[in-house]
Amino acid sequence: MKGTFIDYELLRRFDIDAFKKRSPFPWEDIGGFLTQEGFHSLYTNFPSLDLFEYHSNRRRTHDQRPHNRHYLAYENSIYHKDGPPMDAGGLVRREQLPTAWQGFMDELETSDEYRRFIRRALGISDFIPRYAWHVGSKGSEVSPHLDSPSKIGTHILYFNTSVDWNPEWGGSTLVLGGKKIEAMNPDFADFETSAAARITDNHSFLFKNTSSAWHGATALTSPDGSYRRLFNIIFETSRRSVGRKLVDRARAMFALPS
Ligand SMILES: [Fe+2]
Repeated sequence: MKGTFIDYELLRRFDIDAFKKRSPFPWEDIGGFLTQEGFHSLYTNFPSLDLFEYHSNRRRTHDQRPHNRHYLAYENSIYHKDGPPMDAGGLVRREQLPTAWQGFMDELETSDEYRRFIRRALGISDFIPRYAWHVGSKGSEVSPHLDSPSKIGTHILYFNTSVDWNPEWGGSTLVLGGKKIEAMNPDFADFETSAAARITDNHSFLFKNTSSAWHGATALTSPDGSYRRLFNIIFETSRRSVGRKLVDRARAMFALPS
């Protein structure tokens, strides 16, 4: 493929101020983040399911219903911190990826313009990126949740089209607002508002993780053999600042001097 995968003109037109002011938290359903050719190339060469591991009924921090799905991490996996999984699967190195994805990863890792855009949108001086692919199938649900505090924000790129995916099967990422109960494992009905972000035809969802950034996706009703496919670009705090936050929290708890 010639040129870049990212449509930089779109980033230049993006209204960052409006994004930051958005309720209930900063989010945007972005159409056309990738160039048409870039989207097509990554769509056609989406990593094979053989590379993925399957997450089945893993317990979640607040006992929300599980997020069952196929999962694949790039280079490092939060699920295999002690090294690559023995049975292979769930972790992919750059050289194992289709050529198109190698090119895209290189662009993501080296693009100053994208990095600057994310810094401005999330209002941060820097971040550490992490990457993972998720594939959902019939019954997969992303029960309402807040992301872990180490995530500053996420950019989710969807790899479905209106040819392979019927919106009636669900799959839209839902922006949930007006939580009506205290519990940290609410259901979709426990929110006053729900806005759906589109997942087909080169749409992506950018959001900032805040204490009100509740989101999820209802259980898929797709037929066997149809998959909701996405690629997550996760922006995390550096280890040092996570450490600092924990120290600050401990100091506040025990009234220690800072
Ligand atoms: Fe999430």
